[in-house]
Parts: sequence; structure tokens; C-alpha cells
Amino acid sequence: MILEAKTETELKRIGAILAASFKGGEVVQLIGDVGAGKTTFTKGLALGLSVKGDVQSPSFTISRVYDARDGLQLAHYDFYRLQDPGILTAELQEVVHDPTTITVIEWADIVEGVLPDTHVSISFTAPSETTRTITLPDSYKELFA
Ligand SMILES: Nc1ncnc2c1ncn2[C@@H]1O[C@H](COP(=O)(O)OP(=O)(O)O)[C@@H](O)[C@H]1O
Ligand SMILES: [Mg+2]
Repeated sequence: MILEAKTETELKRIGAILAASFKGGEVVQLIGDVGAGKTTFTKGLALGLSVKGDVQSPSFTISRVYDARDGLQLAHYDFYRLQDPGILTAELQEVVHDPTTITVIEWADIVEGVLPDTHVSISFTAPSETTRTITLPDSYKELFA
């Protein structure tokens, strides 16, 4: 299914609705060009997980972990232009199998082999300066009906 967000707030709201349905253990791959809205969407996921405080792009630190509702954690990774994830591959391997963590990954190509078969892929495009499209699996249709 394809949704359209006309503002940043709308995009975050879509993320928040999705994350409100999360139980823990979800692994989400965010696909799209620079500026497509992946990090903004992650801020929305954080809202839906009741993360307190600001979610910052992990571009330089590669990973950030936030405490979320119900004893869950949000782990946010960004492997943009990383040649060799090194020891992070082992860390990620553990994190994606932790039932109390929701793992969100931007630019996951280099670690694609570590993603469980059950991971969710969400794609973003920027048809104009102020609009973004979000493509989600049809299994989430009811959440946005
Ligand atoms: N409708 C929209 N939804 C989300 N972001 C938007 C929208 N319109 C413009 N933007 C801008 O697009 C940029 C998205 O950046 P970001 O979320 O960091 O992208 P990415 O992580 O994919 O590189 C932000 O500067 C944001 O203000
Ligand atoms: Mg980003």
C-alpha cells in the first residue's frame, strides 16, 4: 500500500500509527534516497513507542538506542556510505533477535544478510519538495483504514 504525506507532521503520524502496533522484536528496513524521509519517519516511530526526548540521525554514530514504552527499546541504525560494518554486524545480529527491541535500519544494504526473513521493508520517495510517498506491506492496511 502507498500512503502520501503532505507534511513532515503527516509522515511522523504514519510512523506513530505503525509503531503503536509494535509488540517488540520488529525489524524495519527503511529504503529511499537522502532526504526521502527515513529519519523523519523514525521520529514518528519513536512517538508511537513513547520514546522521550529527541531522536537524532545516527549518520555519524551509526547506531543509537532509546528507551521506549513497555520496557521496549528502539535501536536506530544508519549505515550510509559505510564500507565495512565490522563488529557492528555481530551487534546487529544480536539486536535483531532481541524480542524487546524494535530495530530500524537506514541504508541496510551492507548488512542485508543479517536481517531476519520476517523483517519489514518500507520505501520512501519524494515526488516534490514537500510531499513524500511511503510504501508499506499490505498487511498494515487495517491500521490506516
Ligand atoms: N512531507 C514531508 N514529509 C517528511 N519530510 C519532508 C516532507 N516535506 C519535506 N520534508 C523534508 O525532507 C527531509 C527529510 O529528511 P530525512 O528524514 O532526514 O530523510 P532521510 O533520512 O531519508 O535522508 C527533511 O528536511 C524534511 O523537512
Ligand atoms: Mg536519515
